[in-house]
Amino acid sequence: MSEYPLIMTPSTNPRRSVLVTGAAGEIGHGLIKSLRSDDISIVAMDLREIPEETRTLCDAVHVGDVCDKDFLEHVMTMHETNEIYHLAALLSSRAEHVPETAHDVNVQGTFHLLRLAARLSESWGSRVKFIFPSTIAVYGIRTLEMKHQDGALCEHQHLSPITMYGANKLYCESLGRYYTRHYRQVAKGRPDHLLDFRCLRLPGVIAADTRPSGGTSDYVPEMLHAAATGEAYECFVREDTVIPWTTMPECVEALLRIAEVDSPPHAVYNIGSFSASAGEFAEAILKRFPEAKISFVPDEGRQKLVDSWPMDVDTSRASRDWAYAPRWNLEEALDQYIVPSIRRHYENVS
Ligand code: SER
Repeated sequence: MSEYPLIMTPSTNPRRSVLVTGAAGEIGHGLIKSLRSDDISIVAMDLREIPEETRTLCDAVHVGDVCDKDFLEHVMTMHETNEIYHLAALLSSRAEHVPETAHDVNVQGTFHLLRLAARLSESWGSRVKFIFPSTIAVYGIRTLEMKHQDGALCEHQHLSPITMYGANKLYCESLGRYYTRHYRQVAKGRPDHLLDFRCLRLPGVIAADTRPSGGTSDYVPEMLHAAATGEAYECFVREDTVIPWTTMPECVEALLRIAEVDSPPHAVYNIGSFSASAGEFAEAILKRFPEAKISFVPDEGRQKLVDSWPMDVDTSRASRDWAYAPRWNLEEALDQYIVPSIRRHYENVS
């Protein structure tokens, strides 16, 4: 494949042509439902088969690997992609089992997409938008004492991740920033149209209609889904484990919002709705599902990962630059979204 540039006719179609990678995952499911509209063409891809419910909302679906750059080039040129939500990734717990594979997917896959998006920006003569979910796993706090002492972290603090996933995401944030601001900065004939990378660092995300897998923040959604289905749940972290959280509708809303902001001054933003401990969640769940059986059986390895993540995140940069405001606190999230939606979900599937 030639490196530069792609010889293509610039698009005459003003329609948004959106590529969603990792479309079979939890965020893909929520995002595609919200993205659906007549003036957007949605192309979904995933390594796994994309569920029927999501597939029917898309203009095209492709089963394929983000590590296959010829496949990516084929998909993006065929659909004249001008906006990308790159959701495909191996999450933190899964990545610790297969770190090299995680690096291939999380770094190489992202690099291929960024590189292609940069070349397409030039070919189309307009900047391809690249929306990238990063994570609180980019933070790596050395001790629990420091975690408690430092509270809500700003974007530049404690950037020493202890996981492959966190390290991968932190590097890809830098790569995205590079392609957006500094690409070929000393070369003659620098492209006029660079790509437009925007990234949100997500906290633990709770969805009512899908179950997570492979993450370390999975203990709260797992606890909720178990309570709603009457299964006993052994929580793999201590009761006093605190990290920040948001809900899937708020996460999707923030991703769509950062995509539409006019020239955000920063490439990377924290978001988060509230902080809560595993014990607080268990108590709040028991109030709403009195039959729930929740016990705490900490797993030393996974505990270490969440202990290195912040108690909370400072979201003032996002509030200032694009009026980010979370919708719900813990109680509101449970009563206005999670509990009613999760009950409805299991009524419908049973
Ligand atoms: N939810 C991610 C994980 O647990 C962290 O952002 O891996």
